Amino acid sequence: MSLSSRHLLGMQGVSRNDIQLILDTAITFKEVLERPIKRVPTLQGKTVVNLFYENSTRTRISFELAEKRLSADAVNFSVSTSSVSKGESFKDTIKNIEAMKVDMIVVRHAAAGVPHYLTQISDSNVINAGDGIHEHPTQALLDMYSIRERLGKLDGVKVCIVGDIAHSRVALSNIFGLKTMGADVSVCGPSTMIPKQMDELGVKVIHNIDEAIQENDVLNVLRIQLERKAREYFPSIREYHKYFGITEDRLAKNGKDIVILHPGPINRGVEISSEVADGPSQIILNQVTNGVAVRMAVLYLLGTQN
Ligand code: CP
Repeated sequence: MSLSSRHLLGMQGVSRNDIQLILDTAITFKEVLERPIKRVPTLQGKTVVNLFYENSTRTRISFELAEKRLSADAVNFSVSTSSVSKGESFKDTIKNIEAMKVDMIVVRHAAAGVPHYLTQISDSNVINAGDGIHEHPTQALLDMYSIRERLGKLDGVKVCIVGDIAHSRVALSNIFGLKTMGADVSVCGPSTMIPKQMDELGVKVIHNIDEAIQENDVLNVLRIQLERKAREYFPSIREYHKYFGITEDRLAKNGKDIVILHPGPINRGVEISSEVADGPSQIILNQVTNGVAVRMAVLYLLGTQN
């Protein structure tokens, strides 16, 4: 069994079979992560460069650990300590890295489309670790893995993505992936943060958070991206929390079990209260653990293709 593409650039167009293969392969790797010696020789001799032009905690460490757990040689590139600060272009940077004989590149960049451009100037397998407000496919895969692990299936599961949908790569990748896997996907947030194309994607728009909690099995609560001028889209953080924040009172009032996901990093007291972020409904740190297994699966399936 192998993936039908040599890159993972986004969830748009990724088939149900490919998603199923990645999620099922990740189960095996999750078992590896629970062993005393968490390492297999699968990618021995392969070199992976983690090219992070944007800050990251979870994704960067998770990819690095996944590569090391598979016995690949992992090399980390960060913009602040590279010759980009001396004015070297993106293309020249890639050409120089490739001249050192690498096999795979994991890339995060603030500009949408950079992973796609990378496939045109490089021979390596490319994995998108988040490109601007476009896609974050491995986040969607680990979210799907975590929902399936908790609820036993994705088909027919009702998932609402809450927050700034318009500026979220996590939202778009989740919508594509979850729809392909048969989930019933909706979004909830201030109307200034919901793009008009939701209908075209077959996604229901809910403007009332209590209705979203009532109608769904899962809430995927997005971070309000304060660094991306999110404040311009609602009057104040206090008001956002009042109308869309996920709190214990709100969950109790609606009186039903619901699974809470958050991709991190969390703004406690903004999109989610501390009680919910640390409470029994959330699976936030399970998502982080599963991220390593899912990224091992992606690296393995791309790195062992003929
Ligand atoms: N979820 C996520 O992408 O987190 P980081 O920005 O820390 O990688």
